[in-house]
Amino acid sequence: MCGIMGYRGQRRAAPVLLGGLRRLEYRGYDSAGLAIRNGGMHVWKQIGRVQGLVDNLPAEIQGTLGIAHTRWATHGGVTDENAHPHLGPHQRVAIVHNGIIENAGAVRRDLERSGATFTSETDSEVIAHRLEAAIDEGLEPLEAMRKALNGLRGTWGVCAAFLDHDAVVCARNGSPMAIGEAEHGVIFSSDPQPLSEHTNRVLILEDGDMAIADESGFRVERLTGGASNTTAIVMEEAWGEAELGDFPHFMIKEIHEQPEALRHCISGRIDLRSGNGRLGGLHLSPKALTEVPHVRLLGCGTAMHAALIGQQLIERLARLPAVTHVASEFRYQDPVVNPRALHFAVSQSGETMDTLAAIKEIQLKGGEVHGVVNVVGSSIARLCGQGVYIHSGPEQAVASTKAFSNMVAALTIFAVQIGRTRGLPPAEAKQVLRGLREVPDLIEAYLADQGPIMDAVEMVKDASSVLFLGRDLSASVAREGALKLMELAYVPCLAYPAGEMKHGPIALLEEGSPVIVIAPDDEVKEKVSSAIHECRARGARIVLICTKGDDIAEQGDVVIEVPRTHPYCSPLLTVLPTQLIAYHTALSLGLDVDRPRNLAKSVTVE
Ligand code: M6R
Repeated sequence: MCGIMGYRGQRRAAPVLLGGLRRLEYRGYDSAGLAIRNGGMHVWKQIGRVQGLVDNLPAEIQGTLGIAHTRWATHGGVTDENAHPHLGPHQRVAIVHNGIIENAGAVRRDLERSGATFTSETDSEVIAHRLEAAIDEGLEPLEAMRKALNGLRGTWGVCAAFLDHDAVVCARNGSPMAIGEAEHGVIFSSDPQPLSEHTNRVLILEDGDMAIADESGFRVERLTGGASNTTAIVMEEAWGEAELGDFPHFMIKEIHEQPEALRHCISGRIDLRSGNGRLGGLHLSPKALTEVPHVRLLGCGTAMHAALIGQQLIERLARLPAVTHVASEFRYQDPVVNPRALHFAVSQSGETMDTLAAIKEIQLKGGEVHGVVNVVGSSIARLCGQGVYIHSGPEQAVASTKAFSNMVAALTIFAVQIGRTRGLPPAEAKQVLRGLREVPDLIEAYLADQGPIMDAVEMVKDASSVLFLGRDLSASVAREGALKLMELAYVPCLAYPAGEMKHGPIALLEEGSPVIVIAPDDEVKEKVSSAIHECRARGARIVLICTKGDDIAEQGDVVIEVPRTHPYCSPLLTVLPTQLIAYHTALSLGLDVDRPRNLAKSVTVE
């Protein structure tokens, strides 16, 4: 979602800030802007891409201090005026803000009663007014920010530049802020990624922290006063390039990175000799695992689909009740939390607000949560304090692909690990682990020979709706496939467990309706086959994703075969054609495959 950059240093600020904005583009945004202190406070901002902003900037902008932003609209439409930065009434401060100020309406009315006029519809502009008022009272920047934020309710990652002070100030409450200490200056960002080209020494603010970079270096304090406990960390080199390389889009690059990403995820975590999983970061002894009464998993979107597969494998391999929750619903259901239960929060970005809120609900009720997270040092990873990094490497396309595979792989290893403490026979555990270890090679083999994806694209691209069916583990793959096609190609999609089709969705079927069926060679294949017959009898046309060489292939109009694997690993293979169908359908419709409309990579608002 929105992205923040700030800089104070020896270099020209504009290139540093714009380079950072480019690295934040993947998060999704609809406008971009820049403020540079250079004699006055100069602001350029407009709707559209960062490149559009760059095209309209003067050739060489001087000034070594500034802030910049990519905005994903929440309060106020997508307009140039609503783009950030926002200025104080006399242009003596400029701010950029991520998050939502919940009492902005009341604050704004108060300010208007005292004569203030606003230039935008955003909630963020009140921060600029309050900050400038505090500066006008003679407060120093950090004190002024403290005063401006006191009395505001909501969430913020906020960064400010000052006309009369050689300082950049930032603050965090519920919306991430990181600071990089480079040789040439101090860089602020809402995401550690843009800092990596300048330094690997990074400080991630805690909620309630604020920081200043000025002539004397930089320091971090609490909003309530006193020093912060935050300490700098040295960022590990993430595997994988954040650049496109030879690929035309991040999504297709990331689809092709799945074998390597999986190898990173499972490496060192599979013990084939003893037939066990080794997820050390969970900090759970075998004895502790035997005492777990049940497992709950939480996530949104693709992460939730991966959690559903993990849930089924945990139940099956550990004979332990497991359930998955849509994280955005969780806290509103006033859930009963058993402090002895095991809770997993599954998230690629580690910043999803709904998932964070669900974790807080569990922690408030005495439970502990383990993260299954990709981004190291992210809010969810830090809030949980324990868990599993899935090591997908940077995932930049809005559509999640390689993170899904690694979430499923990590949860499969966990299912084996907890299963072994509860009577899962070693031979069975070894079969699953062997299957998992072979998956990267099988994915490579499939990607080298993808089958008639374009025939499937022809069937779905102009359809008024597409039905995805699957059963057992494949029901979650069907949901994931439907989400991908819907978010990228804007084709309405429904996903149902195949057995549910006759209870309602069958009414949609008519001559030529496309149905995508996920039917690997597993125990429920015959049941899925019945659903296919029922669809065909109503004139539907079937895209069948099945195991290579299986007889069920006769039942498809378009048949996409994936290599045979252990049935518990089948989602890691059957999901691939669904990713490719979504990718190529979006392309054939001329859509922006990496940045679909209205979506953001990390959803940091409720
Ligand atoms: O970063 P997270 O895994 O927590 O994100 C959760 C969802 O927002 C995300 O999976 C979303 O559904 C993707 N766009 C799906 O491709």
